[in-house]
Amino acid sequence: MYDFVTCPDRRNASAYKYINMIKKNPDVPEEIIPLSVADMEFKNAPEIVDGLKDYIGKTVLGYTAPTDGFLNAVVDWQKRRHNYAIEKEWISLSDGVVPALCDLIRATTKEGEGVIILTPVYYPFKKSIEMNGRKVMDVGLVTDGKRYSIDFNALEKAASDKNTKLILFCNPHNPVGRVWTKEELLKVYEICVANDVFIVDDEIHNDLIMPGYEHTVMAKVAPDAGKHMAVCVAPSKTFNLAAMQTSMVIIEDPEVRKAFDKERYKGYRDAPNPLGMEACRLAYTHCEKWLDECIEVIHGNAVFLEEFMKKHFPEVVVYPMEGTYLMWCDFNAWGMAHKELEKFMTGEALLFLDEGYWFGTGGAGFERFNLACPRYIIEEALNRLLKVRHC
Ligand SMILES: Cc1ncc(COP(=O)(O)O)c(C=O)c1O
Repeated sequence: MYDFVTCPDRRNASAYKYINMIKKNPDVPEEIIPLSVADMEFKNAPEIVDGLKDYIGKTVLGYTAPTDGFLNAVVDWQKRRHNYAIEKEWISLSDGVVPALCDLIRATTKEGEGVIILTPVYYPFKKSIEMNGRKVMDVGLVTDGKRYSIDFNALEKAASDKNTKLILFCNPHNPVGRVWTKEELLKVYEICVANDVFIVDDEIHNDLIMPGYEHTVMAKVAPDAGKHMAVCVAPSKTFNLAAMQTSMVIIEDPEVRKAFDKERYKGYRDAPNPLGMEACRLAYTHCEKWLDECIEVIHGNAVFLEEFMKKHFPEVVVYPMEGTYLMWCDFNAWGMAHKELEKFMTGEALLFLDEGYWFGTGGAGFERFNLACPRYIIEEALNRLLKVRHC
């Protein structure tokens, strides 16, 4: 059994989760709980920590090219966990998935061309498009109040616009928690291919699938699907290695791969982080059991939150977290404007959450809870809500 009970003290350890919260709210009290930025409040797997110590003892940290051990570990992981067969040559490295999204946008579109996103969605999607001078094509997801789905008519309309060249697709979807079914993915793929829209498939959360759900890498939905997309994967969410700045972009089409690498090289960002590659190799080779236990803990937290809300706040809609560790909850029944809700959460409940309105269209009045932490933190967070709301 691994330790998913100890909560490391990251408040004074330059954790972005705390730094960002204090930057936004300089006066927040010491006891505030941040369930915000998508990283974990768990210790890293001992196999990674010990393996890195051993590696540092033996290696020289000069410029390092991708090692065969690392590349083989990536190939094996994709095959073993996702039944996704890739070639080593298809793998490009990036210091993050978001930087990769920016490079891919520039590699596959021209200024002013349209890029589709399905909102609400992880907010850097929109920002990456805007910062690179492309046009955001906002296609809203639809909800029946229980589960989100894709508005295929709206998607088709946006894709058939002659100016549209790309879609940034989130699979599984942050923040709505959907693990898209094979049928849904096939429809998205078919619409995009029919309209010559290249697909960037952000699969950063694809190892974090809750019991009862099955994830499909989009490149597997049809025999040649991989040729029409770039698939972004990483150990950063799965094993809490974001600071290692090591992500992989799998691109089958050699022309697109060349264009992507060219964009990366424009910033001279071609020397990968050896510690990141080694951490990734260790994770993919030795930490499958850690991950399985971690998913159990996160799933337990999700069930706890769902039951708590059902009992104490039945008016709050809790969307099923099929994947990721991020739970999407609709507080609109409380009748607060989104800024008022934000103020209530931070100022009265002493919880710092990712605010729904940050995620774009359809997000106002929602809160995103990060459940990758020991259970007692979730209990404390929810009890705070109960205390200030029901007193
Ligand atoms: C869908 C999605 N893509 C990318 C990222 C961040 O990727 P990176 O830190 O590798 O840039 C996140 C982080 O929450 C995410 O949810």
